[in-house]
Amino acid sequence: MNPPVVLITGAARGIGRATASALAEKGCKLGLIDRDAGPLQEAAKELEARGATIATSPADVSDREALFAAVRAIEAKLGGIEVLVACAGIGGLTQVPDLDVAGLRAMLGVNVIGVAQSIEAVLPGMIARGAGHIVGVSSVAGYRGLPWMASYSASKAALSAYLEALRPALKRRGVTITTACPGFVRTALTRDTPFRSPVKMMEPEEAGRRIARAALRRPRNCVFPLGTSVGMAFLRHVPDPIFDWMMDRAGPRALTTDF
Ligand SMILES: NC(=O)c1ccc[n+]([C@@H]2O[C@H](COP(=O)([O-])OP(=O)(O)OC[C@H]3O[C@@H](n4cnc5c(N)ncnc54)[C@H](OP(=O)(O)O)[C@@H]3O)[C@@H](O)[C@H]2O)c1
Repeated sequence: MNPPVVLITGAARGIGRATASALAEKGCKLGLIDRDAGPLQEAAKELEARGATIATSPADVSDREALFAAVRAIEAKLGGIEVLVACAGIGGLTQVPDLDVAGLRAMLGVNVIGVAQSIEAVLPGMIARGAGHIVGVSSVAGYRGLPWMASYSASKAALSAYLEALRPALKRRGVTITTACPGFVRTALTRDTPFRSPVKMMEPEEAGRRIARAALRRPRNCVFPLGTSVGMAFLRHVPDPIFDWMMDRAGPRALTTDF
């Protein structure tokens, strides 16, 4: 099989950029979208210098019109998108009592609506060809409501449920879905979290390699690293009173800030 044409959102930095790099190594043609044109060009230059075929178009994934225009511009250069890696996402702490509902709205707008719109932009082409694959980058933080990241957890829980719910109807039309759930990865998203002591994190290059593999092999789920995957699977099934007890202790131990 020829390497597919892959569209990656959030491709200028972090996990998206690392995924682009890993997919370029596999010979994929890449369409890159991010909201910031400068870093996007920089990422494209680096990949082109390694011989990759790249098309870029800056857009905010929460702006449907701009996103659709960007996808159409990329398709005009590379052809129909065969694989989508919807990686653009934002995070942040949620503290009581102010709750930062504006932050919640922004996270839902990017992490849920932004992914849904990215799928919407490429799906008609995939269905017309009877083939395609979508990787939605969610998080293990969506497995349960984690106390210091209520808004982020809620957005990722919504995204994981959304991707799972789409699976059967899309499969019948030849389109498959991977829900990717990374644990902690060392990127801008985690850099400013006020952890009390250093937290073991995966490097973005490793996360990118795993997501790139999932983009090509098409599993239903891609959860990593193994320790986090096992720990969060356990936490998912812990009864509520025990979960509350654990989180009541875990939060203050993990962070220097009150929440
Ligand atoms: N890092 C982790 O520990 C971790 C764990 C689990 C899941 N994830 C998920 O992995 C994905 C990538 O995160 P990351 O850690 O790589 O973060 P990152 O380093 O901040 O990279 C995210 C990229 O997406 C871009 N982006 C944000 N909002 C956008 C929008 N509305 N439209 C277009 N592009 C946008 C960012 O641009 P700006 O720089 O301009 O914001 C940035 O280039 C996210 O969905 C995140 O939730 C991360």
